[in-house]
Parts: sequence; C-alpha cells; structure tokens
Amino acid sequence: MSIKNQITSKTAIALEDKYGAHNYHPLPVVLNKGEGVYVWDMEGKKYYDFLSAYSAVNQGHCHPKIIDSLKQQAENLTLTSRAFYNDKLGEYEKFITNYFGFEKVLPMNTGAEAVETAIKLCRKYAYEKMDIPEHKAQIIVCENNFHGRTTTIISFSNDEDARKNFGPYTPGFIKIAYDDINALEKAIKNNKNVVGFLVEPIQGEAGVYVPQDGYLSKARELCKQNNVLFIADEVQTGVARTGKLLAVDHENVKPDILILGKALSGGVYPVSAVLADDEIMEVIKPGQHGSTFGGNPLAAAVAIAALEVITDENLAENADKLGEIFRKELSKFANENKLVKLVRGKGLLNAVLINDTEDSSTAWDICMKLRDNGLLAKPTHGNIIRFAPPLVMNEEQLMDCISIIKKTITEF
Ligand SMILES: Cc1ncc(COP(=O)(O)O)c(C=O)c1O
Repeated sequence: MSIKNQITSKTAIALEDKYGAHNYHPLPVVLNKGEGVYVWDMEGKKYYDFLSAYSAVNQGHCHPKIIDSLKQQAENLTLTSRAFYNDKLGEYEKFITNYFGFEKVLPMNTGAEAVETAIKLCRKYAYEKMDIPEHKAQIIVCENNFHGRTTTIISFSNDEDARKNFGPYTPGFIKIAYDDINALEKAIKNNKNVVGFLVEPIQGEAGVYVPQDGYLSKARELCKQNNVLFIADEVQTGVARTGKLLAVDHENVKPDILILGKALSGGVYPVSAVLADDEIMEVIKPGQHGSTFGGNPLAAAVAIAALEVITDENLAENADKLGEIFRKELSKFANENKLVKLVRGKGLLNAVLINDTEDSSTAWDICMKLRDNGLLAKPTHGNIIRFAPPLVMNEEQLMDCISIIKKTITEF
C-alpha cells in the first residue's frame, strides 16, 4: 500500500516537519480535496477556503473548465521549451494581450520571476532608450512592499525575516512611504537616474493596505511627466480579486508594465506574465531573458481557460458586490465587538484588524477557532487576518461565512 493511502493528518504533518525545510508555518490542517469555495481535510471535514492560496484560486478550486483544458493539453504536448515554437503559445499571447490591452507579453511561471522580469525590462529600457549611464538606473519601491522571495526582491524589502542574513543585497532601489504622493514626487525630482516606480496597487501581504483614492492616478501622472515607467505588481490584486479586472482599473490607470501571476491560471499551474507595449518590450532580444517552462503549451491552455472563466462568470462584478456586503457586515460587527478594530479592503481582498498587540498570538488563535468552525483563513503581518475567498462564492455562502466569523470572534 502506498504511503498516501495509509496516512492521517497527523502523519502528513509529521512527514513535512521531518523531511521538508521549515520555511513556512502552516495552520495545522491537511487538505486533500477542493471544489469551488470548499476544501476538505484528510478526515473528510469540509471548510470554506477564505485564503484562496493567497488569491491564486480566484476561479474556485478545480474549476471544471480549467481542469478540462489542462487535461486535454496534457495529453497532447506539455513542454517544448522556447527552442521551438508550439501551437498554443501564439494563441495565448494574442488572447492575453487583447484581454489586458497591451501589445506584448513575456510569459514566466511564478510571481517573483515576473517581478524580476519587469525589473530587468525596466533597466534595459532605461539604458537603451533613456540614456541612463550604465549601472546607475534606480527604481523606486514602497515601504512594506511584498514582491516575492528572490535575492534582488528581498534586497528592497523592509521585512527583517525576509532579508536578514541573505545579503549582500542588490543595489538600485530607492524606498519611499506607500500612499504618499509627495514622497514619490520628491524621490523622482531628487534623482535624475530614476527610471521606474514599482508598486502594488493594494499592499496585500503587508495587511491589505488600500491607498487613498487618487494615489494611483496621481502617481501614474507623475511618472508620465518625468519619463519614469509605472510598474504595477498585480500578482495578488489582479484578475478580478478587487472587484475590477485589475486594481489599477479603479482609477483608470494603465501601467507601462503590468505584472500578473497567481490567478492567471486559477491556481491550477504556475503561470505568470509581464505585459507592456512594443516600444518597451522590444528592448529584449533573443538570449537576453527566458525560462525553460515560461510560455509552455500547458500553461498557455490553462491561462486562456482561466481568463475565460473570469469573464464568463462575471467574477469581477461578483467580487465587487460580495466585498461590499462583507465590509458592511463586519464593520457593523466591529462597532459591537471589542476584538475587531477595523475592516478594510476592496472587492474580495479584505483584512480584519484584531485589537491586540502586534506580537500577540490572538489573530493566529482566532484562525485556529475559525478552522474548528469550518473556515480557513490565515493571519498576515501582526494582528491582521486576511479574508480572500474564491470569487465564485455566492451571497448565501458569504452570509454563512460572515456568521461563522462573527460567532467565532464573539465566542473567543
Ligand atoms: C504582490 C505580489 N507580488 C509577487 C508575489 C510573488 O509571487 P510568487 O509567490 O508566485 O513568487 C506575491 C506573492 O504573494 C505578491 O503578493
């Protein structure tokens, strides 16, 4: 009999603990099935998934249309590398560029790889089209950013856990306060070698910080006036999560470079992408950037299906509608309950701030109780719980979840 058929949740956790690197601290629940907004553990208990794999499973677990597409493609051709053409990549490139309104796409696999790609693209464009002296290009980033885990990306993080003892760090980044247009203006004016501004339209990992209305459009305008590329990292906010297709759409902003990942595949396969117009993308020539798996036919087929689901099922509109209900109901609850300080977010990317010190375990303990009551969520930095269910949720399910959350916190 295989190990798979013998083990319980307890042994599955023990195996990870013994044989896996301890680079995560998962909530103790072992899942082995997912469908739509639900997941099941190894003992058959059913839960609402209120994390959606950090907003990757926007289309719901194992969406039949995406899985069909994966299966069909997997039986034909999975990987050619870019040494040869394949019959799916061009079709996907046409589809995704039309879908998001850009002239070109560069396909990668993970979010961090796409961010790295955008940084390289921005630097190369700066040296070849903006006359920036070699090695002098500077990209502005924001405090409390989260863009992934590579050496370059953690170089401009201010999360000590993410950074400490991973140096030496990559230079070329200027950090400013998030949601502070004056800080951006000053940083651009103070340094003639600024070539890009890399920003999350809502800071997800930091605790779902939504900037003031007008921040993104003013930042976009400042960048345009000063010949600085506006680079939007929509790996977490993108693909309908915030109630629009992209979070920048709330302010009618079109980035120079758009970074996508996670829900681009509905959580079925690692697919990420960098989109830009020809003038920018054409600075990359053969041999200058790439990935063995980037642009493979399986990813192409999966991503087309995943994006079609977003449109066919009106998932942006649903996220917008359900998000309003979630914040309204939990804001009312926050007025009555001392443990909940505040609810904030956009669409179905929301956070509840727990009224306790940053280093207390209250948010974690509440998540354990939520688990016991059939709903899975995870604390993000400090005492903040992020609530981000799959966007295929309906109103009845959402109301059920709201009552689980209220009951759990009331009883806590
Ligand atoms: C805004 C943002 N950018 C990049 C990433 C990195 O994506 P990945 O974990 O796929 O490398 C994340 C992951 O949470 C993210 O939230």
